[in-house]
Amino acid sequence: MTTPERAPRNKTLTLTDTERRRLALVLDAMQPSTQETHHLQGPAPAGAEEAETAHENAPLERLAPEHLYDRILNHDLFCLLPRLPAGFADLVIIDPPYNLDKDFHGSRFRAMKGEDYAGWLAGWLPGVLACAKEGASVYLCGDWKCSGAFEAELAKHAVIRNRITWQREKGRGAARNWKNCSEDIWFATIGEGYHFDVEAVMQRRRVLAPYRQDGLPKDWQEEAEGRFRLTHPSNLWDDITVPYWSMSENTDHPTQKPEKLIAKLILASSRPGDLVFDPFAGSGTTAVTARKLGRRFCTVEQNREYCLWALKRLELAEADRSIQGYKNGVFLGRNAE
Ligand SMILES: C[S@@+](CC[C@H](N)C(=O)[O-])C[C@H]1O[C@@H](n2cnc3c(N)ncnc32)[C@H](O)[C@@H]1O
Repeated sequence: MTTPERAPRNKTLTLTDTERRRLALVLDAMQPSTQETHHLQGPAPAGAEEAETAHENAPLERLAPEHLYDRILNHDLFCLLPRLPAGFADLVIIDPPYNLDKDFHGSRFRAMKGEDYAGWLAGWLPGVLACAKEGASVYLCGDWKCSGAFEAELAKHAVIRNRITWQREKGRGAARNWKNCSEDIWFATIGEGYHFDVEAVMQRRRVLAPYRQDGLPKDWQEEAEGRFRLTHPSNLWDDITVPYWSMSENTDHPTQKPEKLIAKLILASSRPGDLVFDPFAGSGTTAVTARKLGRRFCTVEQNREYCLWALKRLELAEADRSIQGYKNGVFLGRNAE
C-alpha cells in the first residue's frame, strides 16, 4: 500500500518501504509455527467444531496459550477460532465491523438485513467468548444499529453488566435523520467473580459550583488551571476524542478506536500482566494500549498492512508510553491536553 502525502503538521502514522519490509519479517516471526501447533492443550472453545466444519482448510492446529502472549495474529478470525484454546484471556475487547458498508482497505464489509447481521454475529461470538476465562470481562463495541443484536446474543453467553454510551464528535449530519454521534460498548462478564478497579478510572472534572465547608474546599482541589474534582466514571462518556490527523496515535484505519477509550476498559477490568484478547484488531489500538499499561495482548487482524501499523505503534510505545487524555493515573476532560 502506498502512503499518501502528508502536510508537515500531520502526525498520522506512516511506513517507509524499508520499515514495511522489516516489520513484515517481525510479523511473520510472530505467526504460530507448525511446531507450536503441536502443543495442543485444553478443549477447543465451544462452537469451534461447527466453525471448523465450515472452514475445512483452517491453516492452524489448536494453539497453546503461551504461544499467544504478545502476538498480533495476521489471520481470518473465522479460520483461526477453532484453533484457539478455551479460557486463555482475562479480558476480551471486541470491535467488530458494524452493520454498515465499510471498506477496510480492500476488504469490504457490506451492510445486511438486521436478522442476517444477527446470524453473522451468532456464528463467531460464542467462539470468541469461549476464549475468555471464568471471571473475565468482555466489552463489545457497536453503534445503535447493531446494539440490539449485540445485547440479545451476548445475553445468551455472558452476564450483561452495563452499556456504556460514548459521544464521538465526528459524524456526518443527515438531512432527514438525527446525526449519529454516539456509540455503545456493552460490558459483560463470564460468571460472577469479576475484577473491577474503579479507582483506576477516576475522572477529573472541572468544578462549576465550588462548595466549601468551614472555609475549605469540599471534595475538590484548587490547581493552576482551575478547580477540579475526581469523580466516579459513569456509563456516559463525553471526554473522548476520536483520533485525527494531529494526534500521534492516528493511522489511516477507517474506524480506529481512541487509546483513551481502550485504556479505560483495560484499567477497570484487568490487572497488570493480564492477557487482553482483541479478535478484530484493526490498527492495533488494544495491543498498543495494553503494552503501555503493562498488560499482555493477543490480537487477530486479517489485513496485513494494519498488522504492520500495529507493530510500528508497538515500537513507538517503547519510547513513549503516554496515552492522550490520561495523566498521573487520572482521566482528563476532552481536549484537556
Ligand atoms: C471496527 S475495525 C477495528 C478497529 C480497531 N479497534 C482499531 O482501533 O483500529 C474491525 C477490523 O476487523 C477486521 N476484520 C474484519 N473481518 C475480519 C476477520 N474475519 N478476521 C480478522 N479480522 C477481520 C477489519 O479488517 C477491521 O480492521
